[in-house]
Amino acid sequence: MKTVVLGVSGSVACYRACDIARELMRNDCRVRVCLTHAASKFVSPSLFEALTGQPCLVSAFDEPEQGRMAHIDWAREADVVTVAPATANILNKLANGYADDMLTTLALAYDGPTVVAPAMNPTMFGNETTQASLRAIEARGASIVWPQSGDVACGENGQGKLAAVQDIVDATLGVLARSKTLVGKTVLITSGPTQEPIDDVRFLSNRSSGKMGAALARAALDRGASVVLVTGPTNTVLPSGATLVWVRTAREMLAAAMSHVGNSDLIFGAAAVSDFSPAMLVSGKIRKADGLPTVALVVNPDIIAELAKAAPASARVIAFAAEPNPDLEVARRKLEEKGVYAVAHNDVSDAGIGFESDDNELTLVTRDREVRSPRAPKIVCAHWLLEQTTLPN
Ligand SMILES: Cc1cc2nc3c(=O)[nH]c(=O)nc-3n(C[C@H](O)[C@H](O)[C@H](O)COP(=O)(O)O)c2cc1C
Repeated sequence: MKTVVLGVSGSVACYRACDIARELMRNDCRVRVCLTHAASKFVSPSLFEALTGQPCLVSAFDEPEQGRMAHIDWAREADVVTVAPATANILNKLANGYADDMLTTLALAYDGPTVVAPAMNPTMFGNETTQASLRAIEARGASIVWPQSGDVACGENGQGKLAAVQDIVDATLGVLARSKTLVGKTVLITSGPTQEPIDDVRFLSNRSSGKMGAALARAALDRGASVVLVTGPTNTVLPSGATLVWVRTAREMLAAAMSHVGNSDLIFGAAAVSDFSPAMLVSGKIRKADGLPTVALVVNPDIIAELAKAAPASARVIAFAAEPNPDLEVARRKLEEKGVYAVAHNDVSDAGIGFESDDNELTLVTRDREVRSPRAPKIVCAHWLLEQTTLPN
């Protein structure tokens, strides 16, 4: 039996959390409800206790079992945390790591799959802060069940109405179903740019932000995998559950990835590896006064091709092709040249996706199919990519 912690915050749609709880129980889940103080003004904890047969948490100091810290205990035992309805306030608090009541403390102590279903007045929903918080929560791996458009309780019309109970239940059950698809598997991901030093203060690099590799790592962790993330320099927040290996140059990335490839079941080359590096590293700083320098370049190793050669026969290796156009020819060619299972083509000429952006749209090219992902946040594309490339257990 799976354990769902249902977080309920102070929206007028609170009453629908009762149906969500019951429907999850009908689907063989143990449901434990945690209410905010505002939510407890709308619906009594006693009602949820009667419906679920479980104690209900409200205050940060509630302790149904004495001597156990409930926020830690519940976080450890949860297979999924679903926050429905999620107020604007709770979204902003979740995005910023607040822990000033039981629900936010529990959420901060929990690092598994999360589902969030917002409900609020359309102006509150459209507010820049709310939108930024939602994007941040989604980028960290939460599944958002988007509110519907229509008449809302306050008399306005627009987006903000809590999604249908069935959609929230389906999203929760979907997250639970996928959470075990990579248990026992190791996923190796190269991510971010590489930096190839010219002198002690300058380097050759590219615009990769490392967001796609981070999203893949989060999605694989959510599915139960052990994840090794070999990353070039990046400011992107990386998932704490992954084994992180920081590197700088393409050669360092190759060495680090090669030391893990033998144990890997799925290998993603999401790093934007510099194709060239300066032939010579000048120590100190090249000076303008010394005249125009000539920087001779040498070709870097082809990391994904090397990994494909060294990977176990049962492993699947997926390369990325960041191309300045939508043409799939290069991706098709790379499939053979690099000896990989698939190539994820990324059209980086499209400003809305690819390098630095939060969204992506991938075309996966294998020997027998070419399929396109939705244009969606990178975490959604990452789950799509894992679905397309994961072998059934
Ligand atoms: C009648 C009433 C209905 C409300 N409905 C909502 C709502 O649907 N969504 C929302 O974000 N806030 C709503 N609020 C405001 C929240 O209850 C308020 O921001 C509160 O501080 C949220 O606390 P919580 O996030 O800890 O539950 C409502 C307030 C009242 C009085």
